Amino acid sequence: MIQKGQKRVSILKAAEALARGEIVGMPTETVYGLAADADNQAAVAEIFRIKRRPADHPLIVHVLGVDLVPEFARDVPRYARRLLDVFWPGPLTVILPRRFGRGDAAAGGQDSIGLRSPSHPVSRALMTACGELGVVGLAAPSANQFGRVSPTTAQHVVDEFGDDLLVLNGGACPVGIESSIIDCTREAPVLLRPGGLSREQLAAVAGRPILLPADAKGCAPRASGTLASHYAPSARVHLMDGAALQDALSSLSTRAGHIGVWSRALRVPTSSFLLFRPMPVDPQTAARELFAALRDFDAHRVNEIWVETPPPDSGWDGVRDRLKRAAA
Ligand code: TXA
Ligand code: MG
Repeated sequence: MIQKGQKRVSILKAAEALARGEIVGMPTETVYGLAADADNQAAVAEIFRIKRRPADHPLIVHVLGVDLVPEFARDVPRYARRLLDVFWPGPLTVILPRRFGRGDAAAGGQDSIGLRSPSHPVSRALMTACGELGVVGLAAPSANQFGRVSPTTAQHVVDEFGDDLLVLNGGACPVGIESSIIDCTREAPVLLRPGGLSREQLAAVAGRPILLPADAKGCAPRASGTLASHYAPSARVHLMDGAALQDALSSLSTRAGHIGVWSRALRVPTSSFLLFRPMPVDPQTAARELFAALRDFDAHRVNEIWVETPPPDSGWDGVRDRLKRAAA
């Protein structure tokens, strides 16, 4: 693994590897990605292979900025342009009509393409170096095996794919859950995956309501993050409201097994069966810690993970969404 402190060299090396058609683990502000040249069919196919990802789940293409959107997209609705102007670089992915002949492999044969401009300084330095080598877009899904918990540190990526993969270390991801995805190929914008940006924030900038997939006609769940079960640790996840969780904890002595608990303000009995991790009280910090907490519970080989249902307000949509799918 490339270590911190060698950043100048390592970014150039990583860019050269990408230009040669290799795969590189890349930090972004949301989660770590598994990057390849979006226009290199063989490299993109290798991502699908090592992730064991079904071929019909397209990859997001990462670009430096709005000026590169026309390379991959043939049309940008005005509301989408407003979203890009305000939220890029950042945790927002837009699905746009794809320019014929570009990003074919990444798009998994669809006539649309997902585009995102990450703000993480290491991914930006990497994309700049790639641009100089003629690589315009980096296809990058989250750097985890299909269906598993997304990685938020370089070590998580090594844990998933082993030491042979080149991984740039950019520290712990500050957002911690994946980007919000908005489908801009329909008449109205549709939120395919909630992320760090709330629906209200997005609607205010788009200047129109952002629909949910259930409200949009003919909106098939093409995003894997929208499958009912996803983001799953090895241990079974149970979501419970505060009262139910408190009851379950009170009767714990009768249970066998080793249980991880992620909750906000409960009285948690000290017990050798229990591994307690506090759920942060604000949604941004909770998002940042969520995937690391799930991985930590797995590393401690707990049998079950009991999680307190997050509050109902929209700021928690991203975290609630990931937890529901982890528990499904
Ligand atoms: O924050 C993120 O978005 C991270 C970082 C690495 O950028 N990436 C990420 O990629 O979460 P991935 O592949 O794990 O999730 C992207 C989702 C997938 O569920 C995929 O099916 C969906 O976006 N997607 C990509 N292109 C699409 C398209 N053209 N139409 C519909 N869904 C698309
Ligand atoms: Mg993913």
